[in-house]
Amino acid sequence: MTTYYAHRGASTMCPENTMAAFRQALREKADGIEIDVQLSKDGEAVVIHDETVDRTTNGTGAVKDLTVLELKQLDAGSWYNQACKDETIPLLEEVLKWIARTDLMLNIELKTDREPYPGIEQVVIDAVKRHDLGERVVLSSFNLETLRRVREISSSASIAVLVWDNVDGIVKCARHLGAEAIHARPGFMHTAESLRAEAAGLPIRLYTVNEPEDLQGIAPGFVDAVFTDSPARLRKALGDT
Ligand code: G3P
Ligand code: CA
Repeated sequence: MTTYYAHRGASTMCPENTMAAFRQALREKADGIEIDVQLSKDGEAVVIHDETVDRTTNGTGAVKDLTVLELKQLDAGSWYNQACKDETIPLLEEVLKWIARTDLMLNIELKTDREPYPGIEQVVIDAVKRHDLGERVVLSSFNLETLRRVREISSSASIAVLVWDNVDGIVKCARHLGAEAIHARPGFMHTAESLRAEAAGLPIRLYTVNEPEDLQGIAPGFVDAVFTDSPARLRKALGDT
């Protein structure tokens, strides 16, 4: 029995990072959703994975060069399936309002690894504060500077350190930041850092796990949660009821 976060929503069944994908995650009985957040030209937090709108909408250009009004006019569903043509890029505010009406957990990834988005930390923290979500929100980023700023702004924000391959010293760093967890790829479990995380009592959540084989050689008790594109399918494949 583990915790299932729908990665970019239930993104196998629906276009990623859309309200349709988040509603599908709820239907698939996920425990939470993971979303990616960037800033529009006019400083609004919007939910989209890439720094440009080219791949997942019918528009072109950088998110940071488009206003919310311009972003909201884009079709964020047709690239996936014509039937999803009415999906738009959600505002973080829309997702928070919706989450408040569910019991889902929410992982907000601040996408500052390629684009710095000055001020994004304050925008996200202020938005989260406007909703009564208790302990259900965790903020993550690959960018340690972003996480340092989050901690500077809020001593109580739940933080998770996101790791790609640069694992050396990450546990020390996570402890320094007062992080509650490390979000890593399955390969992390075969590094010495994972043992340090365990010794430090730091839970490890793995992305992106879509097949049982992705967890091969990993003792289930060591994984706090998984991020998956297909919560229902993975749960069934793992025999997790
Ligand atoms: O948060 C885990 C995972 O979402 C990080 O990778 O590229 O899917 O945002 P990516
Ligand atoms: Ca992400």
